[in-house]
Amino acid sequence: MAEGSIETYESEDRVFPPTADFASAALTNDRSMYEEAEADYEAFWARQARELLTWDQDFHTTLEWELPFAQWFIGGKLNMSVNCLDRHVDAGLGDRVAYHWEGEPGDQRTITYTDLLADVERFANVMLSLGLSKGDRVAIYMPMIPELPVAMLACTRIGVVHSVIFGGFSPDAITDRCEDADAKMVITADAGYRRGAPSALKPNVDAALAAGAPSVEHVVVVDRCGTDPEMVEGRDHWWHDVMAEAAPHCPPESMDAEDLLYILYTSGTTAKPKGIMHTTGGYLAQVAFTQKYVFDLKPDSDVWWCGADIGWVTGHSYIVYGPLTLGATQVMYEGTPDTPRQELRSADRSTWDKDRLWDIIERYGVTQLYTAPTAIRTFMRWGAQWPNSHDLSSLRLLGTVGEPINPEAWMWYHEFIGGESCPIVDTWWQTETGANMITPLPGVVPTKPGSATLPIPGVFAEVVDDAGDVVKEGGGYLTLSRPWPGMLRGIWGDPERYHDTYWSTYEGRYFAGDGARRDADGYLWLLGRVDDVMNVSGHRISTSEVESALVDHPAVAEAAVVGAKDEITGQAIVGYVILIGSAELTDSLRSEIRQHVANKLGPTARPKAVFIVPDLPKTRSGKIMRRLLRDVADGQVLGDTTTLADPGVVAEIRDRAAESDEE
Ligand code: PRX
Repeated sequence: MAEGSIETYESEDRVFPPTADFASAALTNDRSMYEEAEADYEAFWARQARELLTWDQDFHTTLEWELPFAQWFIGGKLNMSVNCLDRHVDAGLGDRVAYHWEGEPGDQRTITYTDLLADVERFANVMLSLGLSKGDRVAIYMPMIPELPVAMLACTRIGVVHSVIFGGFSPDAITDRCEDADAKMVITADAGYRRGAPSALKPNVDAALAAGAPSVEHVVVVDRCGTDPEMVEGRDHWWHDVMAEAAPHCPPESMDAEDLLYILYTSGTTAKPKGIMHTTGGYLAQVAFTQKYVFDLKPDSDVWWCGADIGWVTGHSYIVYGPLTLGATQVMYEGTPDTPRQELRSADRSTWDKDRLWDIIERYGVTQLYTAPTAIRTFMRWGAQWPNSHDLSSLRLLGTVGEPINPEAWMWYHEFIGGESCPIVDTWWQTETGANMITPLPGVVPTKPGSATLPIPGVFAEVVDDAGDVVKEGGGYLTLSRPWPGMLRGIWGDPERYHDTYWSTYEGRYFAGDGARRDADGYLWLLGRVDDVMNVSGHRISTSEVESALVDHPAVAEAAVVGAKDEITGQAIVGYVILIGSAELTDSLRSEIRQHVANKLGPTARPKAVFIVPDLPKTRSGKIMRRLLRDVADGQVLGDTTTLADPGVVAEIRDRAAESDEE
């Protein structure tokens, strides 16, 4: 184990801050918000929405709930960009820094609220002049540069719906998402810096649009890396050219609380990603509430840093909308944590320092850091000498998100990053929930290493068993029993799938797809996905999406995919593949197949291992028994194999797995 790591221990009885008696700690803290929300959760959320947001017109009804369709803050009108920008500038805070941005090479930009508003207004005018109007969809495929939040906020200024596509996704993913949403425009960059070099983006957009998505009329391109991409006459425009020509002021569109704000695609249990829809008022109310109370953000003095990519919901909520709504100062970083600034790089990559994050925290005086367990486990492996060589005393709160955090990683974070004095908020939520759902309010709820603790005020979570009965203590499935303001309003273009996926498994409940255990104190311990969705480094990938990409390879006849346990990434993708009769098994074939998946779905979906097998274990009704394949991948003793059509298959698969070419 890496230096500074901590041995395994029972975490359930450990409480932070340490107190002799857990129950008395819980009782002595101020739980008034929990009590208020318990008594009347609609009134609680109405108060938060009015206190935290600026409305053009007040709402007349807090909630209308016709399962599974919720409407929050009905009759209310507001504009997202006004809440994030204008109101702070109008209050005299225009000179406050919104983003301390640092590029991977080490270039820096300081962007104030006045600067941000000016760019947002101009870019909103660019979109208007290119023919976009309220309700149109725009795809955004960009690196982590300030133009990304500018593009998103400019959409919200004029009521255009954005669909951000993670920069690590492939051309196919861009085509599919643009086609599904009927996007009229794509906003991109030539490339972004990643791991020490430009990583191309615009060529992926070109390939995507050559393959389909005829609805896209315009592409706006930021020149980030000077890679000189091909520009299509009439369709493609340089960001700097159109911005220079745009008018400076753009009046905000007053939006209905339930007007669509954005679509964000996420993996489900089928090969087709789901376009998760979020609307304006409810989403913003819960994002602002959690930013203020879970992350304890004090905009006058804090420097907030969420290390996610804006391509995921975490970045939408806690790099763009949450912090800006509160008027916070943030750090935004373009690259990877093991890429030093340009001037500190030697020719040999293996000697590069692994302290970029800690260096950034020290230089900008970051007060809150929000990251993922995979990252924390990677830092553990790199060793405590990297954080130890920096002054991290500005930190006062740490957050984690994306997957279950093991108690060892929690303790390492607590000790080596938080100096044993920062509360840790383990935040459970999903693309679908819009904002934090299960997590402690720091200073109010004592924490236990590895537990996300309790639902926030106004959120109601229950663990149920197979029959849907509530489990007071013990394991089961995580469900939400009442609507919440930030909840998804549906799946773009597919209301039936929305009902079937989330609301049909347990009557009257939202089923999250996660397993969870409730302990004697009512604390929740997340156990990971129980469906065919994998969680690799906190990224959701569906088994069937990878299976479709595998069978798309000309040599593959059939494929089954499972998420195997992985010490760093939580889960790793393992594919079992049957080749077509005529295919020749060569050394390069396995890696070629893995690369094929990366080409189809992007590098995050590249299987860690592909096993070529003679057959797949199936039940007599023909269903692939993924559980057995998972056991093989995990190297475990096999469970019950009696339902297998051909029990001999598994032994053969196990032998083949032993000769894999795992990375
Ligand atoms: O399995 C849960 C896991 O991530 C899933 C949601 O993924 P996504 O929609 O991509 O959003 C990730 C960031 C909000 C969940 O179903 N997950 C998320 N946070 C946690 C978690 N698992 C355990 N603990 C968490 N704190």
